[in-house]
Amino acid sequence: MGVLANKRVLLGVTGSIAAYKAADLVRQLREQGATVRVVMTRSAQEFITPLTLEALSGHPVRRELLDTGEESAMGHIDLARWSDVVLVAPASANLLARLAHGLADDLLATLCLAADVPVLVAPAMNRQMWMNPATQANVQTLEQRGIRRLGPALGEQACGETGPGRMLEPRDLVQQLAAQFNGGQLSGLHVMVTAGPTREPIDPVRYISNRSSGRMGYAVARAAAEAGAEVTLITGPVALPLPEQVRGVTVDTALQMRDAVITEIDGTDIFIAAAAVADYRSVDVSSQKIKKTQSRVELTLEKNPDILGEVAARPRPPFTVGFAAETERLREQALDKLINKRLDMIAANDVSAEQAFDREDNALEVYWQGGGVSLPRAGKEKLARRLVALVADRFHAKHPGQAH
Ligand code: C5P
Repeated sequence: MGVLANKRVLLGVTGSIAAYKAADLVRQLREQGATVRVVMTRSAQEFITPLTLEALSGHPVRRELLDTGEESAMGHIDLARWSDVVLVAPASANLLARLAHGLADDLLATLCLAADVPVLVAPAMNRQMWMNPATQANVQTLEQRGIRRLGPALGEQACGETGPGRMLEPRDLVQQLAAQFNGGQLSGLHVMVTAGPTREPIDPVRYISNRSSGRMGYAVARAAAEAGAEVTLITGPVALPLPEQVRGVTVDTALQMRDAVITEIDGTDIFIAAAAVADYRSVDVSSQKIKKTQSRVELTLEKNPDILGEVAARPRPPFTVGFAAETERLREQALDKLINKRLDMIAANDVSAEQAFDREDNALEVYWQGGGVSLPRAGKEKLARRLVALVADRFHAKHPGQAH
């Protein structure tokens, strides 16, 4: 698996001689598994043609903010939301100045303002321009606002001078981008995730289940692995491939899920229960297919074990994270669960009106004792990474000094 598998990179290219390296950069980003969409400024197009980057990225290159054709394909705000990271490489002195002043005078600058994901800039310019106090002040402003700077490197420049101002090589940029995602926040830790629905049999061909697709749990497992954890995924029946670098245990029923969890729970540092475990199972499971001879049949159901509750009630529980899918009074019910089940954290989602199940995106309200944060609607992959980053923060706050 490439170090950037499943990552969506919005690559901004500005007018610098180093723009020619953007072609190789796109190629290397894709080689590492990233999906790349390119935005070029007007002057970048003087150095390299959009066609080149279009062919290499496999997507149309965006150039204009106010082009209705381009906007109708994907609006600029959607484009900002689509990305997991914005990388501007090369970033010219002019672009840095525009960003420092919060200008939104072209598509790229607007996207950088609209992005709610990390923005990284790889400056490339003549050394005098780089060392100019104006540029240095702009860079400082940007860094204070959380924009990350990659480079520049020292060396020979296109203008014949030698000094700081060369863009980092594509290979180094790819490496730094990968490090940005895989902060190793969970390295050395064991994470167990439950995912998907369970199936509670009634007879050999029928069962009780629910609409969980398993996507959120799978995304959480993948995000935890990306953050460096050793991940075990205990999964109900779903139609998803097992994420790479995740050990999977497949189960059908709630009782099987409970047994699989309890068998493996020792040595788990963080337990994230994203499964939609069926609350009830049929008391009697017919060994033969039930015939439709009667006009009315009755099923007696009994309660399934609360897996999350059982894990959290252990003498030395792992850091436990629950999910709460609610159709009303989201906050109140989530906080009740946090306290009653003695959880460390709960991620609540509103499942009224088809808002979460079997959808590509989701939004979460996350609570812990004495705090909380809203994770706005986003693709489940992106949301899972944010949730895992929060889990890592809270875990390390609770266990200062443990593996990192
Ligand atoms: O109490 P409720 O079912 O709403 O709690 C939801 C949370 O508890 C989820 O994290 C779910 O994975 C977990 N759960 C569980 N075992 C059950 C029911 C729910 O682990 N039997």
